[in-house]
Amino acid sequence: MGESEWRIGALRLISSPVLAMDFLDARQKPRTSERVIATVLLIVLFVMIMKQSSNSSGSSVFSRHELGVTHVLVTGGAGYIGSHAALRLLKDKYRVTIVDNLSRGNIGAIKVLQSLFPKPGRLQFIFADLGDATAVNKIFAENAFDAVMHFAAVAYVGESTLEPLRYYHNITSNTLVVLEAMAVHGVKTLIYSSTCATYGEPEQMPITEKTPQFPINPYGKAKKMAEDIILDFSKNSNMAVMILRYFNVIGSDPEGRLGEAPRPELREHGRISGACFDAASGIRPGLKVKGTDYRTRDGTCIRDYIDVSDLVDAHVKALQKASPGGVGIYNVGTGRGRSVKEFVEACKKATGADIKVEYLERRPGDYAEVYSDPSKIKNELNWTAQHTDLEESLSIAWRWQKSHPSGYASS
Ligand SMILES: NC(=O)c1ccc[n+]([C@@H]2O[C@H](COP(=O)([O-])OP(=O)(O)OC[C@H]3O[C@@H](n4cnc5c(N)ncnc54)[C@H](O)[C@@H]3O)[C@@H](O)[C@H]2O)c1
Repeated sequence: MGESEWRIGALRLISSPVLAMDFLDARQKPRTSERVIATVLLIVLFVMIMKQSSNSSGSSVFSRHELGVTHVLVTGGAGYIGSHAALRLLKDKYRVTIVDNLSRGNIGAIKVLQSLFPKPGRLQFIFADLGDATAVNKIFAENAFDAVMHFAAVAYVGESTLEPLRYYHNITSNTLVVLEAMAVHGVKTLIYSSTCATYGEPEQMPITEKTPQFPINPYGKAKKMAEDIILDFSKNSNMAVMILRYFNVIGSDPEGRLGEAPRPELREHGRISGACFDAASGIRPGLKVKGTDYRTRDGTCIRDYIDVSDLVDAHVKALQKASPGGVGIYNVGTGRGRSVKEFVEACKKATGADIKVEYLERRPGDYAEVYSDPSKIKNELNWTAQHTDLEESLSIAWRWQKSHPSGYASS
């Protein structure tokens, strides 16, 4: 019997007419044996209720390891990628706890997930800040996690150049908090969200996992430091570690349940797909392309765009392949670079809008050309990007954007 079911049962017993009648009779004709039985019953009930209350969080299914059920802590699960990952994990029968401080994510995404998976024991949301080590430790003490997917982060290159300390704090030191809590509470598997920004601007393309990492902005540096902390820790631990270095993430759930909905105030720092959609929907008068004098085929930056469905699939494969004491580092990209101009063309087709493009100076902290060599992840995790048609990924994302003009607030 579950805790709440048990409590309801206990209350029913106390308020049961039979027992009430017994008490009435006992008052009218007090018999020692009945009084003793009633008193003992009440004491037992009282003790059980107190015991249940003091262990209230400890008795939830989330607090127990269960054979055949993998309980994954998804940090940043109210955000763009984390919510898509949580959806996929839930579909695949994982038990999911989302921890998010909603600084950038959307409670609307959590509500969607809760409505899709309402059964007890599948999904819980905990509002907490990962910078608060006491809160994080309490969460780990009260929940039996089998694995952590650590997505939570501030994640804008441009913003990181303006607020570097915020990035080191939020990315590097919060990862340390999560890792320490995992170590203390014996959580055995970590899947870490890293980024191609840790490579900086390498001489040679494509980027392999052996390409030296020389990040050129605080975002990339903070992620590289977090990676180093994890790798140093893993040398003397039995933890299974998978570090996934994503390239540029686009798209959304093909069934239209989730989307990318950054805060309006972040639009300025935003990613290219959001900027294109804003221009297509008229929220902004046009699209600003920053930098046309890079040494690339058309002068604009080249990036490797990975669909979010493929990305979360890589996470699930990484989780399945993670082995105690093992470390896997993988690029997650398509292996193909597309220029900003090509991206804008695909976006025009996907949205049907004639997006006005304004060409500006370079953005600080940007690099010319970045695309992955995804052969390691193909060979070791049997993962390859499936959704590589830019226009199709953008069409799916656009459909969600159009039906959610105010983000999740429109749901
Ligand atoms: N989007 C991309 O193209 C991309 C590329 C490479 C790597 N990444 C990485 O993927 C991860 C997820 O990125 P995203 O695009 O989904 O970002 P997002 O902003 O949509 O989601 C991040 C989530 O983390 C939460 N969060 C931030 N700080 C927190 C804190 N201190 N405590 C608790 N929650 C906190 C936010 O509220 C948000 O819900 C990040 O680690 C990012 O660095 C993203």
